[in-house]
Amino acid sequence: MTSLQRIGVVGAGLMGHGIAQVAAWPGGFDVVLHDAAPGALDAGVARIAKSLGKLVQKAVERGALEASAADATLESARARITATARFEDLAPCDLVVEAIVEDLATKRALFERLDAVCKPDAILATNTSSLPVQAMAEVTRRPSRVVGLHFFNPVQLMKLVEVVRTPATDDAVFAAARRFAEQCGKTAVACGDTPGFVVNRLLVPYLVQAMLMVDRGDATPEDIDTAMQLGAGHPMGPLTLADYVGLDTTLAILEGWRERHPDEPAFVVPECLRAQVAAGRLGRKTGQGFWRWDGDRRV
Ligand code: CAA
Ligand code: NAD
Repeated sequence: MTSLQRIGVVGAGLMGHGIAQVAAWPGGFDVVLHDAAPGALDAGVARIAKSLGKLVQKAVERGALEASAADATLESARARITATARFEDLAPCDLVVEAIVEDLATKRALFERLDAVCKPDAILATNTSSLPVQAMAEVTRRPSRVVGLHFFNPVQLMKLVEVVRTPATDDAVFAAARRFAEQCGKTAVACGDTPGFVVNRLLVPYLVQAMLMVDRGDATPEDIDTAMQLGAGHPMGPLTLADYVGLDTTLAILEGWRERHPDEPAFVVPECLRAQVAAGRLGRKTGQGFWRWDGDRRV
């Protein structure tokens, strides 16, 4: 049985900071959080502190944690996470989850570096939304120890992880990755190495249809979002959700799919999405997309 103790996370952005956080608490793992951009590392650590404070307080309020244990829980969760700008600090990790930009060439370069620096028996995982896990596994000398661990945004609140195996993934590695997700408090589902796995294969084409409505002028963004919230019971309308995910990430997913699956009619790039990204309006992360954002809140 593969036993995991120390977890590396590469990328401290929207997803990486959340993965590091749930690995530390409730996961109980030691975490090494690395980002190539020092500003991003600091921002990720600040977000973790804020989110942990909120979730520990909520756990006390619902009786899941003794009030007297709150400070110690917070302190030990923070202490389990080491933030570092040094890539080599990932070397002792048993499992490394990457959550960097959704670009295959960049991810393949990272997997080569991880393969070189990490222990031979370490598991390497990708949080990719849409790219073939196999295309990362094949640049390493350990394709049997590579899996997809697809967390959802916001990581701290969304209960699912898709655990993705390639034809080369070892059964014990898959089982260890699944146990890791469950120890982080998530429900795991298994999925093959297919475009978008389960959730994004269904969700991203739905976001696309909402954007094509905007392109055609069928309805306003406000009415589209209200319609899906009140008519279908979704917590967020599709344009709010695209902003929440990041319009750059959404565009990267679609452009990659267009290139790799040109005959799939569900994979199209709406004009309004291209225009938003070209103008630097990336959604929540830049404060402006289809909507205006103040931090994590839509204005
Ligand atoms: N950490 C801690 N607390 C958080 C938090 C975080 N990261 N994010 C939000 N919260 C808290 C808020 O502060 C708020 O707390 P209070 O009740 O004390 O005010 C509480 O959670 C609820 O948040 P909101 O009031 O802002 O909004 P909400 O009730 O709509 O819930 C939500 C937020 C859970 C995100 C909900 O809107 C939702 O489920 N949205 C859909 C998200 C979704 O579909 N995610 C998947 C995206 S696709 C993906 O991830 C895959 C991919 O590859 C692209
Ligand atoms: P993000 O832009 O918020 O964060 C990416 C981080 O990676 C940045 O802090 C950047 O500095 C860092 N980075 C980039 N290249 C790096 C490198 N070579 N080495 C180290 N750090 C590097 O992006 P995100 O939204 O967190 O997405 C990250 C990954 O997670 C992508 O693969 C994305 O598809 C996937 N994902 C995103 C969502 C979402 O809703 N945003 C949901 C699930 C999965």
